[in-house]
Formats: sequence, C-alpha cells, structure tokens
Amino acid sequence: MNSADAEVKCDVLVIGSGIAGLSFALKAAKFGEIVVITKNALSDCATNLAQAGLAAVFSSEDSFNAHMQDTMTVGDGLCHAGIAEQIISSGPDRIQELASWGVQFSKNDKNDLDLGLEAGHSHRRIVHAKDITGAEVHRALRTAVLQNPQIQVHEQHIAINLNIHAGRCLGAYVLDKTQDFVKNISARVTVLATGGLGKSFLFTSNPDVASGDGIAMAYRAGATIMNMEFIQFHPTLLYHPYAKSFLISEALRGEGARLIDGEGNRFMSNYDSRLELAPRDCVARAIDSELKRTGVDHLYLDISFKDPKFVKKRFPGIYDKCLSLGINIAEEPIPIVPAAHYAIGGVRTTLSGVTNIPNLLAIGETACTGFHGANRLASNSLLEAAVMAHYGAKECSDILQKNRSVQSFSPWHAGDAVDSDESVVVSQNWMELRLLMSNYVGIVRSDKRLRRATKRIVLLQNEIDQYYWDFKITSDLIELRNLADVAQMIIDSALHRKESRGVHYTVDYPQKRQSAKDTLIRKSVMSDIIDLNEKNGTGSPKNK
Ligand code: SIN
Repeated sequence: MNSADAEVKCDVLVIGSGIAGLSFALKAAKFGEIVVITKNALSDCATNLAQAGLAAVFSSEDSFNAHMQDTMTVGDGLCHAGIAEQIISSGPDRIQELASWGVQFSKNDKNDLDLGLEAGHSHRRIVHAKDITGAEVHRALRTAVLQNPQIQVHEQHIAINLNIHAGRCLGAYVLDKTQDFVKNISARVTVLATGGLGKSFLFTSNPDVASGDGIAMAYRAGATIMNMEFIQFHPTLLYHPYAKSFLISEALRGEGARLIDGEGNRFMSNYDSRLELAPRDCVARAIDSELKRTGVDHLYLDISFKDPKFVKKRFPGIYDKCLSLGINIAEEPIPIVPAAHYAIGGVRTTLSGVTNIPNLLAIGETACTGFHGANRLASNSLLEAAVMAHYGAKECSDILQKNRSVQSFSPWHAGDAVDSDESVVVSQNWMELRLLMSNYVGIVRSDKRLRRATKRIVLLQNEIDQYYWDFKITSDLIELRNLADVAQMIIDSALHRKESRGVHYTVDYPQKRQSAKDTLIRKSVMSDIIDLNEKNGTGSPKNK
C-alpha cells in the first residue's frame, strides 16, 4: 500500500487515534490489515490530555453494584442499565489488559493500585498514573500500535465523508494534508473513533482536534444520533491567557481542594450540601451562577492548605504546568472557569459500536451507548472507550467473516471548486459559532436563547455550505462544516427536551419529566451524498 495512492484498500479503517481507536486497532489486528488515520499527529487526541483516570472496582470495600448505583444516580434516570452492567463488570479486565500493554498505573505502599476519588463516586476507584493518566495510557498504546506489522498509521489524514453505497459503508474520502490530495480509503469495516466536539464552545478542555468529525460524518451518512443536548461542562479549566484548554482535574477536589471567590470565601454551601464533591453538573452550574451574580470572569480552586509535598507528588503534571505560568498551586489558589468537556451524546450504538449502517462502527466519545445517561460520572469515559474497543473488535471479526471483499468506490471530484480567496472567513465563522454556542447553548439554557441560536446557526450553515461547494477542500473547512453540523444537532436536541435532566438545564422547564427518554435524530434526506450517488453513480459528494 502506498500512501500516495489515490485508492487505499484495507480490511479495517479506523478513524481517530485516542484510547478507543488504538486499543481497537490492537485487538482487531488479529483479524486483518488495519489502517489508522488521524488528522494531526498520532498523539493529538483527548486521551493524551486526560488527567484523572479510569473508574474500576478493585477495592475490597467497593462492588460492581456500588459503581452501578453511582453511575445511575449521576446519569439522572437515563442510563441504560444493561450496558452499564456490562461496562462496569468488564472494567478490571480492561485495566489488567492496559497494564499488560505497558501502562504504568500508580501503586500504593503495598504495591496495590492507588485508587483515587472523584465527585459522585461512593468509593475510591479511580485507577490513575499520577495526574497524567491519559498521557501514560496513550504512550503505551502508541508504542504497541507502531510495533504491530498489521497496523499502518497515516498521520495528517482527515476524513471528509463516509462513502455509503446501497445503504452500506464502503470506507471514506480522506484528505491527505501533507500532499493536499483526497484519497478514497475502502475498507470492509469502517470505525469512527474521532472523540468529542468541545471545539464548538469557547472554553473547552478538549484538544483542537475535537470538532465532532465522526458524529457529523455519521449523521450526513444517515446514522441515528442520540442525546446530543447533553454536553458535560467541567467545573475547573485553568483560566489563563496562555493556558490553552488545560484542565484542573476533579481529582484535586477528591483530595479536598476548595472552590473560593476572589476574597477567599467558599460558596458551594449556598448551592449543594455535597459541596465541592457534588456531581459535576451541580458544581459547574454553581460556578456559572457565581460568575453571573458577581460579574467576575473567573473563580478559584484552592489546594494550597495541603502539605506541599503531597500536592507535588500526587499532581506533578498540574503543578508543573501551573508553575510554568507563574502559579504555584502549593502556595496559592488556581484561577478557573467551567468549560465544555465531554459529549455525552453521539452516534447511537450497541456496546460493540454497531450503528444502523452496516459495516460502520462507532466507539468511544463519538458513540452513544446510553451508559452515561444524562450526565457522565467522572472517569467512566476512558473505561467505556476501552470496553467498547474490546467488544467492537469481536464484532469486527464477525463482520469480516461475512463481508469477504473490499469494494472500491469512485474517486473524489473537486467539481468547479477553486482556491479560496477569503480563507479568513473560515476562522471568523468558527469564532462566531463558538461564541453563539457558549452564549446561547451553554450551562444554563432557555427556549428563547435556543431559538436565537437556531436562527444564527442556519445562516452560518448556509454560508459554510456555500464555501464547501465553491472552494477547494481544506482541513479547516472540513472541521468547520462538522462543527456547524454538530452544533445544529445540539441545538435541535436541546429544544426538543422540554425538561431539565442531568447536564441539560433550561430555565423554562426546571423539572424532570416523569418518563425518561432518549433524544434521537436522523437526517432523512441525505441530499449531499445519497441523492448524488443515485444521479451520477460516482459517490463523490463534491460532484455538482
Ligand atoms: C478530570 O480529571 O477531572 C476529568 C475526569 C473525567 O472527565 O472523567
């Protein structure tokens, strides 16, 4: 296989390189040839930034039942219990497996796993590697993937659209950014593992790559999308002009850190009797309310009253990062704001990642199994990703048995597209989108704000679509188009939910409805893909 080829064929195409994509690739490599594409470097993913860890039952005082209860309580009536049971009971095996791939988890004096605590957990069960768990997990996965001869990794490759023919997924059109050239990668199984969509908001803990690509592509291809209104905001992102998307882990609050205002006063007792260890949505809403009430632009998290030796040993990553910006967390409070952190919704799937489109799987944050319900319990997401990769690889083996040949599809046609003379419009549109999502679709919502957001997003989408059709495709344009699509889905889903539940809070319907329901959306007319396929049989979305 030559990376310069216009057509690449493989058994399995994995789009995305976080814990879901890479652990899936390692497992599926036993059954076929895998191509992993990732739009920047292999390490550019949310996993690499994850601080706290993976929730799993190891303590003798803990139980699967307790972990289930905590997950369901935080999930606010919308968790799918069967899925939760399977994920939680698979947790210890997945942790052992990660350790067997070389992940060095933190141990205590007795050489047992050192278990951390986070909000919403009734027991210590956060398996971690100091406060750089994601980086350690990703280091080990990267090493294993790069040594596996069955896996080819293509960095700087961004997927544009899935190719769907006769209702089945045949692969994807992919822009090779280094050669500025669109390839078709055909595969017997295509796996979306592109992570979340935090870049649709102004403040986010997500990396720059989190532009909802997998969800947007699946939607355009006709997949069912679930619960997009549930965007989890993390209460404590570092507030500093030079700290891009740096999280201050909830594990600090697990070790006693306090939220304070500029005068040093604690305020959580005005909002929730569980104080700083109330679930994330409650803490984020309390901070949002304090910010709005007082008009300040940030608040503080303080752990400086703890033994400095403990702070430096337990939180070396956060200590070093803050110190590099002139903040000594062992001596002074840390400036923070809430930020978009996790997309609870996504492509509707089974635990094995099965979507409603044959030969298309989605796993990790891109997928929505119903595990998290309406609000995600801290450190349940890396767990879900690892478990989905495990079951997804089994599913993939079954599909490969049935689907024996790779089917080609016609090459990408750029149509009349020309180089853009106004590429600055892309960054202006992106900023407008992030502002509108933060102002109208943030932590506290209302019908009026959501309707305003709808009007503006429609205008933006028209402008972006025009751009997509008229100008040569670029990575920024692909991401902007995806962000606009996911933003539209978030707004539509939020307007549809006439209640407050989990992380979706609206002043117009502050109560929960009696029956809990998932929100499902599917694009009925796939005008830019299927119609054109039918007309000219090329499968190329750029053909006019
Ligand atoms: C954190 O470290 O606070 C994030 C943990 C999570 O989102 O699960």
